[in-house]
Parts: sequence; C-alpha cells; structure tokens
Amino acid sequence: MTHPTALESKFRRGEAHLRCIACGNLQADAGANFRCSTCGDLLEIFYQGWSGDAAGDLKSLWQQRKLSREAVDQSGVWRFRELLPSLLSLEDAITLREGNTPLYSLPRCARIAGVEHLQAKHQGMNPTGSFKDTGMTAAASFARQHAFQWVACASTGNTSASMAAYASRGGLRSLVLLPEGKISWGKLSQALDYGAVTCQLKTDFDGCMQVLNQVVQRAPVYLLNSVNPYRIEGQKTAAIELMEQLNWQPPDHIIVPGGNLGNSSAIGKACLEMKELGLISRLPKISIIQAAGANPLVRAMRDNGGQSITPVQAETMATAIRIGNPASWKKAVRILKATGGTVDEVSEVEIALAKAEIGADGVGCEPASAVTLAGLKKLVKRGFVTPSDNVVLILTGHLLKDPEFTLNFHRGELLVGNQQEANMLARQRRAPVVLDATVDAVLKVLNGQGN
Ligand code: F0G
Repeated sequence: MTHPTALESKFRRGEAHLRCIACGNLQADAGANFRCSTCGDLLEIFYQGWSGDAAGDLKSLWQQRKLSREAVDQSGVWRFRELLPSLLSLEDAITLREGNTPLYSLPRCARIAGVEHLQAKHQGMNPTGSFKDTGMTAAASFARQHAFQWVACASTGNTSASMAAYASRGGLRSLVLLPEGKISWGKLSQALDYGAVTCQLKTDFDGCMQVLNQVVQRAPVYLLNSVNPYRIEGQKTAAIELMEQLNWQPPDHIIVPGGNLGNSSAIGKACLEMKELGLISRLPKISIIQAAGANPLVRAMRDNGGQSITPVQAETMATAIRIGNPASWKKAVRILKATGGTVDEVSEVEIALAKAEIGADGVGCEPASAVTLAGLKKLVKRGFVTPSDNVVLILTGHLLKDPEFTLNFHRGELLVGNQQEANMLARQRRAPVVLDATVDAVLKVLNGQGN
C-alpha cells in the first residue's frame, strides 16, 4: 500500500462515532440490529475533530487519486475516504470500482417537465446496476473487518444483488430474504449468480425485514440493510461525486426516489457535511418522491409534519420502492427540513410515462427511478421548482433491472388508465412488430415512421 501523500497528511481525519439519531447516545458497538441500546432508534456515524479549512486540499487530493492505479483510489467511494469511517487497513476494502457514475443532461425530459436545466446522476451505472453498490462496498468491508462470515439483508431486489456480489468478492457468505413474486427476475437472477443463499418468503418487504431482525439476534450474521450506518456513509459519496462533477456548484434541487429512505438520508447527510467542511457554499433542496401506493412519508409530512409515521400496505409496480414501513423515515424528515425540500407522490401511469420519457432521452432507468421525473413535473406545476432552476434527478437503477415492466409497457399490457392517460401512454409506446422476413415488409415499416 502507498504511503500517505503530503495532501493526505494535511487533512485531519475525523474520528467516527456511532450516535443515536433520537437521544444522542454514543455507542461503541452497533449491536446486531444497529439500534440505540438506550432508546432503540437508529444510529448514525458522526465525525469528531474534522479540520474545517481543508476544502481546497480535499478537492485536489480527490482529483489526484483519479490518476492512481490503486483499486481504492479508482473506486468512486473510497476515493472520498476522508469523509468515511476508516478501515484498519485500506487493503480490507472490498471494491468493484463502484461509483464513478455519469451525470447526463436530459434535454427532452427537461422540455416535458418545463425546466431549462435538467440532469440525471445515473447510479444505475454501478457494477451491479444500482446505487446500492456505493453503500455495500463500505458496509461489506466493515463486516469483514469485524470478522463476520455471514452477511444478510431483506430486499426488494437491488440490495440483495449488490450484497451478494460484494460478499462473494470479499469471501463472505450471504443470506437474502425476498418477498416472493414481488421482485423483478433480473434482480433475483443476480443474487443467484453471485452465490447468495436466497429465500423467497411468502410476505412483503416489510415482512421480510421483520423476520430478518429476529434472525440477526439469533445467528452470527451481519445485517446489511440501510439501517446499517456504514451503508449510508458509502451512499453519501454519490452526492460528493455529483458536486465534483458540477465543479462544486450545487444545483437548486436534487430529487430522489423514496423507499426505505436510506438513500435520501445519505445524500442529504453528504450535503450537510460538505457544507460544514466548506466544500460547497449552499445547500441544494432535497425532495423525495414516492409511489402513491407506497407513500408513508408523504402522508406523514402531510398529516403531521413528519412527527410520526403510520405504516401502509404498499402496492406499486415499481417493486423496488414497494415499502410501507420505511426504517429511515426520521433521518429523511431531518434532511427535508434541513435542506428545505418537499415530498410528493406519483401514480402508476405517471411512473410508466416518465420511465418511457427517460428511455427516449437515450438514458433509461428502472421504474422506481422514474418517480423522480414524474415528481419533478408535479413540483414544477406546484411552483416549488421554477423553470430556471438547476435540477438533478438521482436515477437509482439500470433499465435492464426490470425488462418485464418495459416490455409490458411497450406492448400495451402494463396498465390502462383513463381516456386521457391512455392517449398519453399510446404516444410513448413502441411495440415490436413481427414481420415476414422480406425487405419489402421492413421498408414498409420504415416508410410508415416519417422522419
Ligand atoms: N430506487 C431503487 C432502484 C431501489 O432499489 C430502491 C430501494 C430505492 C430507489 C429506494 O431507496 O430505500 O434508500 O429509499 N431498494 C431497496 C432494496 C429497498 O432492497 O433493493 P431507499
């Protein structure tokens, strides 16, 4: 391993502590379920003794690392390790060179939504096709450092795919609990291929989570859901990388899909920390969009300003966010309030349309990610986002994660909607045509397309 460079030595790394988000209790050990031993609420990592005047040095250091041949420097997570908890040895990092995801402009989607400047940070371009990899490299590395042999998660599909890959890369065994029949085949096949022990439980995601919380109390397995604060630390780097891509000029708005609410919390935490360290001079507003059929946070904000949450029976075709009892809701409420963001909900038709529109911009994403564009349209209509604002959507999963949804949409078999919606859906649809294998048949189709 390389010796620290002059720039590395200059930054005083903060000492990472586990702290309860509700009572502030400091805890040396996370326990099996990553909950406060006093009040039972979630833990977060906070840093003591960060040097506050190193922004310029950090920016240069992170830039320099892009030229390095070291795996940890090529990782878009570990490249930012000054803002992460320290591993005993960097050689313990389990990395697939995650992060390093593109920031795309979305010109057609911008016109549709009614904004001038719209970009998408595509976290679906990670090694296993979702944003989960950025958190998993961190948490799986700490699992191995703590000498665990087994890791486990409950999942709507992406966490399990990611966990299975990182566990195998790190020589760990993995146990996956999935809601039977409620995750896409693409994600299920990843868990199998990467070597996880995969259990499909006859319940929903929330039911899987309940079972897993008991399993980790009774067996020596390390919990890798996003209640694990090391996951959140890794996922922060998406926002750090985004600011670097924007030359440290924050956008006015970042729009994130909301499921278990770990990702919005992570992106928000990164923004608050970057502001504290002087890496950015103002905060973007972070807004969270949920599917209308899985909207506990939207209800909580509407009904009681985020004081309490009532679980819902979740139902949406965007299966990644089919979650009725989100674990990290308090962290997400804190981010909404700290950044001045808002929440909204979108229908199944709105999700399907937005997904096809992102596809037609040559980018594509899975259904859960498309709630961001669908939500943006609503935020523009509400006047919360103005046409001249700079907006970044966080696309969380790759188009190929859920090909069944895409095929059913374009074949016209996904959903119907009312008359107006049916017309809008028909305009976005591009069903494949079956033809005789003749030149004439193909030319006829081509001529029918116009220019
Ligand atoms: N988008 C995608 C593609 C997801 O897979 C998830 C969550 C979310 C958005 C929501 O993120 O939970 O941090 O608010 N998927 C989890 C899983 C629950 O098991 O793969 P969140």
